[in-house]
Amino acid sequence: MKRYAFLLGILILAACGRTGEGAYELDAAYTYLGADFPLEPPLDYSSTAPDYITRDNRLDGDVDNRKATLGRVLFYDKQLSLNNSIACGSCHIQAHAFGDTSQQSVGLDGGLTSRQSMRLVNTRFADLPAMFWDRRAMQLRDQVIQPIKDHVEMGFSGTGDQPSFDSLCTKLSAREYYTQLFDWAFGQDGVEINEQRIAQALEHFVSSIESFDSKFDEGLVQVAAVQNPFLNYTTAENNGKALFLAPPELNNQNVRTSGGAGCAGCHRPPEFDIDPMSGNNGVDKEAGNPAGFDTTNTRSPSLRDVFGPNGGVNTPMMHTGNFLEFTTIVEHYNEVIPDVNNRTVDGRLVRGLTSVKLELTSTERADLEAFIRTLTGSNMYSDERWSTPF
Ligand code: HEC
Ligand code: HEC
Repeated sequence: MKRYAFLLGILILAACGRTGEGAYELDAAYTYLGADFPLEPPLDYSSTAPDYITRDNRLDGDVDNRKATLGRVLFYDKQLSLNNSIACGSCHIQAHAFGDTSQQSVGLDGGLTSRQSMRLVNTRFADLPAMFWDRRAMQLRDQVIQPIKDHVEMGFSGTGDQPSFDSLCTKLSAREYYTQLFDWAFGQDGVEINEQRIAQALEHFVSSIESFDSKFDEGLVQVAAVQNPFLNYTTAENNGKALFLAPPELNNQNVRTSGGAGCAGCHRPPEFDIDPMSGNNGVDKEAGNPAGFDTTNTRSPSLRDVFGPNGGVNTPMMHTGNFLEFTTIVEHYNEVIPDVNNRTVDGRLVRGLTSVKLELTSTERADLEAFIRTLTGSNMYSDERWSTPF
């Protein structure tokens, strides 16, 4: 009996030595990523979201530093595409809030994506877990695999003459640095590189990307409620905030007589995530094909970081990517024109086939833009945790 207990003790000790901070072979990984790359210890990916941020769709609690680090490598590695030409980071660019400056992004072999590449800011801090403009992925973990399987984006689709996702797993398994990195990230020797683990690592990485150091955040903590004028805002910014927050009061012709522009009903502060009940907003054409209809888009990225720190918009906006300036956004919402081919516009923007007319003055339009500009942070654009290791 004693002997068994002794042997068991040795086994437990041996097992413990392999988990937690256990030593893993990382020489090939360091050769691939550079001797300075932060593996031991990894960078700290824990969220520093302020207390007033309460919406969170992450399923598994905190982001794990090692899995997020592996996710960072995968996000920027062009080997995840069939011909080693495209990485996630090709379309989701850090300097542009992880979106793309093109209206439609270029994928494998010059093919274009069917919609604009969404900014990936505070993705987890939203009530709606579903991803993509049309919400077709149930949650982030399902989403991160889809670009790899997309025949235009990264090409492991398993259709036509393209190989399936399994061949990507085989490809990565043949690289010693990846077998080392997966063992290290999942805390176990000899882990299989499979779809589930690739998805997990990418999910940890993408859900760690956050931006909460804007002028809005500085102002919000100084007042009792978001509706109160912010002490650090200009008059224009405070007026723009009031317009953004308040719903319009309409007369019986659906013309605004007082109140605001009603943006906050769908883009909800302080996360500025989309209202899960939002219908489409009347931007209903196909990207790159104004004759075609695409009425299924009811998700928006957070309205934080629409503008970049240098003053221009980070990305062309909306799923069509044909809104190049914020003025055209305001012009659109000022009077959403209903179309007989699109009967699913949200009732806050049209009443049947009649537009809600906001009749925003030029001062009000400028104020709204001034407010949206206060939602831009700075750290996210250069933080090493989210930058390319290559
Ligand atoms: C060729 C360009 C391209 C590549 C490569 C690409 N994406 Fe995207 N991404 C897009 C486009 C376009 C959309 C919006 C598509 C849609 O809604 O139909 C999108 C949407 C997303 C979203 C949804 C965001 C939201 O708020 O709903 C996430 C997350 C995302 N991509 C992550 C990734 C990851 C992770 C990778 C790498 C595995 C990747 N993308 C590779 C173009 C790309
Ligand atoms: C009824 C809900 C609703 C209201 C009200 C609303 N939006 Fe939107 N907004 C959306 C939806 C849905 C999208 C994504 C539509 C698409 O791309 O097809 C969107 C997209 C946007 C985008 C583009 C985001 C990006 O990443 O490209 C901006 C900017 C925007 N809205 C600003 C505003 C402003 C400013 C107001 C107030 C004047 C407003 N919205 C009112 C639902 C709404």
